[in-house]
Amino acid sequence: MNLPVIIQGGMGVAISNWTLAKAVSQLGQLGVVSGTGLGRVVTSRLSDGDLAGHMRRALASFSLPEPVQAILNRYYIPGGRQPDQPYEAVSMYSLRPPKFLDQLTAIANYVEVFLAKENHKGLVGINLLEKVQMPNLASLYGAMLAGVDVVLMGAGIPIQIAGILDKLSRHEPVSYRLDVLNTSPDDDVRIHFDPQAIFPGIAKLVGQLKRPKFLPIISSVVLAQALIKRSEGEINGFIIEGPTAGGHNAPPRGALKLNEKGEPIYSEKDAVDLGKMKQLGLPFWLAGGYGNPEQVQQALADGADGVQVGTAFALCEESGLEADLKRRLLRRVLDEEAEVLTSPVVSPTGFPFKVAKLSGTLSEQEVYDARTRICDMGFLRTVYKREDGTFGYRCPAEPVEDYVRKGGKAEDTLGRSCLCNNLGATAGFPQHRQDGWAEPPIITTGDDLVTAGQFVPAGKTTYSAKDVIDRLLSKLNPNQVWNPV
Ligand SMILES: Cc1cc2nc3c(=O)[nH]c(=O)nc-3n(C[C@H](O)[C@H](O)[C@H](O)COP(=O)(O)O)c2cc1C
Repeated sequence: MNLPVIIQGGMGVAISNWTLAKAVSQLGQLGVVSGTGLGRVVTSRLSDGDLAGHMRRALASFSLPEPVQAILNRYYIPGGRQPDQPYEAVSMYSLRPPKFLDQLTAIANYVEVFLAKENHKGLVGINLLEKVQMPNLASLYGAMLAGVDVVLMGAGIPIQIAGILDKLSRHEPVSYRLDVLNTSPDDDVRIHFDPQAIFPGIAKLVGQLKRPKFLPIISSVVLAQALIKRSEGEINGFIIEGPTAGGHNAPPRGALKLNEKGEPIYSEKDAVDLGKMKQLGLPFWLAGGYGNPEQVQQALADGADGVQVGTAFALCEESGLEADLKRRLLRRVLDEEAEVLTSPVVSPTGFPFKVAKLSGTLSEQEVYDARTRICDMGFLRTVYKREDGTFGYRCPAEPVEDYVRKGGKAEDTLGRSCLCNNLGATAGFPQHRQDGWAEPPIITTGDDLVTAGQFVPAGKTTYSAKDVIDRLLSKLNPNQVWNPV
């Protein structure tokens, strides 16, 4: 299986949803759904009434009716919630997740991939983050049950994933070594997932699953080499992502230095030697600032198989960015007022994270200050070992006193945002709190935001995924564009 020139980057939470991935995939490129936080996203759509019926249609196609019924009983609200009624919580992941949580996570990922692949033959990938470790096994299995073609994974060093995909394709039990604070090198703390225990009888019903291609997202040749050497299964190519990309960025090499706006400074040391990448002999795609026809042409001339583009797709009509935020952000682009800052602190992961400026979002200090800290989704919690040998969970965006009580340092909480809740709000699912208060959104885009106006057709104020793809491919020869559809 060849992969196309354009990969539409995975964008969590639910910015690259099934609607966007399907549109891209039907146009012959690789559409990618984000698998991050999907349990919360799919249940929120059900609580909002699932008015178009897509969730229930996808759920009805799942091989086992019992867990589907349990999800509907708990989360589906015919006609939708009251406007300020809170979304029903989804349990936070821990080392021994309840069976229902694994079922929900797997089925939510199944739903998103099923819908993205429904009624056409195009290719669909799923994006997951190495940093969000605990839900990943269930997410991968659910996506594979829906026949996902490619798994893309960054924000860490995913050496375990390729081997896990091999085992999950045979419905074998898998485990995942977790990064745990305060442990010694001999500690081996794992989360487990056994498909036959979570979904009894499923292997017989669906037979062997396709093993998707695996593309790690990396920022250096050294990392690519390490992955090839240490990966526990076959790697099928790489995405090389530079520091102008939307979402999280790899930190600069060497000591962290900031510019006058407080952004990390990158240097020549962070550039990737594409000649060396070619020598590795695997296909690769370039990401971060490749959202224009000249850069696509250049990437191919430099030996890449194509590009991965996020920002341009985040603002297109099919993306999951909440409609009013999208409209206002694109307006700022067209008025030449758009601005993006790379924050070294906002993400609890500690990775630099890009934030687009927009009123009413966390790019404004007043909005940040007005938010009461709460941790109730927990995707970015890190596991730590207590002195008595038991395990706890903490996140530097949780209430400061909780974090400090769990052994964290107060200074590490400064400026952190709750990306779980805030990104959920950006996709249109803000959690409602007491006194009519709702979680505020945070928008991430790459530095390419300012160029998004190039995709808007004359006389229009919005653009589609097709407008993006047509323009990105416009300078290539027909023989450079391979189309699987
Ligand atoms: C809104 C948004 C959310 C993103 N979320 C993720 C994510 O969840 N996982 C990931 O690996 N990359 C994420 N990215 C990065 C994209 O997948 C892609 O690599 C990047 O956007 C490419 O650079 P560009 O923004 O200059 O096009 C995100 C990017 C954007 C714009």
